[in-house]
Amino acid sequence: MKNFSEWQYGLRDKINEVNSRLLESIKTDQVYLFDMAKYTIDAGGKRFRPLLTILSYEISCDESYEKILDLAAGYELIHTASLIHDDIIDKSKYRRGRETLYSRDGIDNAIVVGDYLFAKAYELGSRYGKEVSKVMADGSSHLAEGQIIEAMNIGNLGLNVETYNNIIKNKTAYFFSACAEGATIAAGGNKTVRNKLTDFAFNMGMAFQITDDILDIVGNEKEMGKPTMVDLNHDVITLPIIHALSHSNSSDRDILVNILTGKYYAEDYKEKFRDVLFKTGSLEYAFKIAKGYILKSVENLNGIGRSEDLGLLMDLALIVVDRINESGVI
Ligand code: IPE
Ligand code: IPE
Ligand code: MG
Ligand code: MG
Repeated sequence: MKNFSEWQYGLRDKINEVNSRLLESIKTDQVYLFDMAKYTIDAGGKRFRPLLTILSYEISCDESYEKILDLAAGYELIHTASLIHDDIIDKSKYRRGRETLYSRDGIDNAIVVGDYLFAKAYELGSRYGKEVSKVMADGSSHLAEGQIIEAMNIGNLGLNVETYNNIIKNKTAYFFSACAEGATIAAGGNKTVRNKLTDFAFNMGMAFQITDDILDIVGNEKEMGKPTMVDLNHDVITLPIIHALSHSNSSDRDILVNILTGKYYAEDYKEKFRDVLFKTGSLEYAFKIAKGYILKSVENLNGIGRSEDLGLLMDLALIVVDRINESGVI
């Protein structure tokens, strides 16, 4: 199976076009504003959402993908804006292999750049009419809703799976599904294909966030271009942690609780935390749930005519969880 870089390499022309469209869309007379926006966009990232948008469009009509580039860029701008703001919230210093924007240019400027990118994104979305604009705006509202439910549950050791699912559904999965839905509406394709691709993207988004939450604990910082243990340091309770809290013996649970409540802060706290999560099988548990979402997502593609693009989407779904296998830790 291809790994993510190989998958991306096959789509490099499309990625290059998305990148040019992104830079074109952030032009402004304000040189400093442009420089800051460009700094974050140039850092790259997986370009997952614009590629999902483009592939969904191509599957749904016979038009050239060039017609959907503005929408694809719009989704990437919203995503990038949300990361700029998320790094402020998470106090995270490193993103896409670079110093985070707020760390480089200050919180005030980073907030403004995020706002600017949101505004530019909606302008791009509006080029596709009311219905697509609404899908895009709703995806973005869900993202904010997810972030606020997460914020309200910081340090909540009683967080249950249902609320966790609600957080990741809103902050990540709905935004993935909005990419596919917006693209298929713009394509004017049939409703069955639209629904299938939208559900595919939603389930893949759920798996994507669970995988990200696992990699926050055991991933490789260099490969991911962002720090690990951010959730732990910021008291964000994720699926593996929920599982570990309810499946550990009392002394291990005490260790977890002490770490999570800041009562244990010896240098080895990360190792101790990982040890308990391994012991309770909590990383495997979360991985199993993520794989379940990927299975569902691939099933959603049944009944859509086979094409090269459909194959690429299937590969992408498998790659999402294969990032864990690649890390070699579970
Ligand atoms: C990070 O998204 C935020 C999550 C939803 C986990 P990505 O992992 O797609 O970030 P980039 O775009 O590749 O930097
Ligand atoms: C939030 O998830 C990302 C958004 C959807 C804005 P995370 O906080 O887990 O994302 P990373 O790990 O910082 O990329
Ligand atoms: Mg974060
Ligand atoms: Mg994360």
